[in-house]
Amino acid sequence: MSFERRDIDAMARFLEDFGFVPVAGGSGGQRHFRGYGPQPYCVELIASERDAFVGFGLAARDRADLDRLSAATQSPVEATNAPGGGERVRLFDPEGVRVDLLWGAASLEPLPVREPLTEVNSPVASRRIDRPVRTPTAPAPVFRIGHVVLQTPDFERTATWYRRHFGYLPTDVATVGEDAPVLGFFRFDRGAEPADHHSLALLAGPESRLLHISTETIDVDAVGQGQQYLRGRGWNHYWGIGRHVLGSQVFDYWKDSAGDEWEHYADGDLMTADYPTGFHPLSRGDLWSWGDDLPDSMRPPAPAPADAPPLVRNIVDALLVPPRPWLR
Ligand SMILES: [Fe+2]
Repeated sequence: MSFERRDIDAMARFLEDFGFVPVAGGSGGQRHFRGYGPQPYCVELIASERDAFVGFGLAARDRADLDRLSAATQSPVEATNAPGGGERVRLFDPEGVRVDLLWGAASLEPLPVREPLTEVNSPVASRRIDRPVRTPTAPAPVFRIGHVVLQTPDFERTATWYRRHFGYLPTDVATVGEDAPVLGFFRFDRGAEPADHHSLALLAGPESRLLHISTETIDVDAVGQGQQYLRGRGWNHYWGIGRHVLGSQVFDYWKDSAGDEWEHYADGDLMTADYPTGFHPLSRGDLWSWGDDLPDSMRPPAPAPADAPPLVRNIVDALLVPPRPWLR
């Protein structure tokens, strides 16, 4: 993930409190942050006169994928000077978001983390005996970037662009009206090997913008302790903790120093390429299974004006329906 930031120090503080680790050796104008996994870096900060989301990178498994994408787009294969080195093909999506296909970067040794809490006691299974749960209040160790969510004024054009260039499969698609897709969750095609429920999500909306970046941490307790840590450091909490419906992640959302949204998650769904695409009428209630309702800023305040385009009216109407009997 790449960002321009006016106050690069404040953003660096957020990233460290959120669970990233600075990569040594960055110059004054550019800094990199890694997760606890093997990727050489997860976030690039560029000192700038403005706060802006620049784009993101995807790691190719094969060098041949770079050649194929280069030939299909007339974009050169270039060397990168980012941590880990390697090569890239740089594209821009229809809304101007920079998307790099990366290959050949040197992996890092993963950083040590505590064991994920996978042994859970229940009325029918006693799995954790003489071993209390004692997790530290500390930054939730970010293992890697899980997904990016973008808003686009032209859902079909943007979704088609990502699918054609990177082979994303639609896992779940929410529709309004006569089956117009307005929210799509897309996963990588890894054949029989499981992939995250979504690595990219797209939402139809009035302007092109980043909605959030999601990061995978080790378990649900890390999400909870990470929340306590970020509260203690004075950052702005946004939404959670709850569990999503589409993707099933246990989530918690925070705002960074410039107001962009970051998600911690654990226990998300994994799907093979065989998993069938789900189609669902768009509903606010399908965005989370339990936990708090959406924050007000994620919800339309009132019905769209009568002269708004039908698609916009349909989206707003769907999001205004109270998702549970006890919610407004
Ligand atoms: Fe998310």
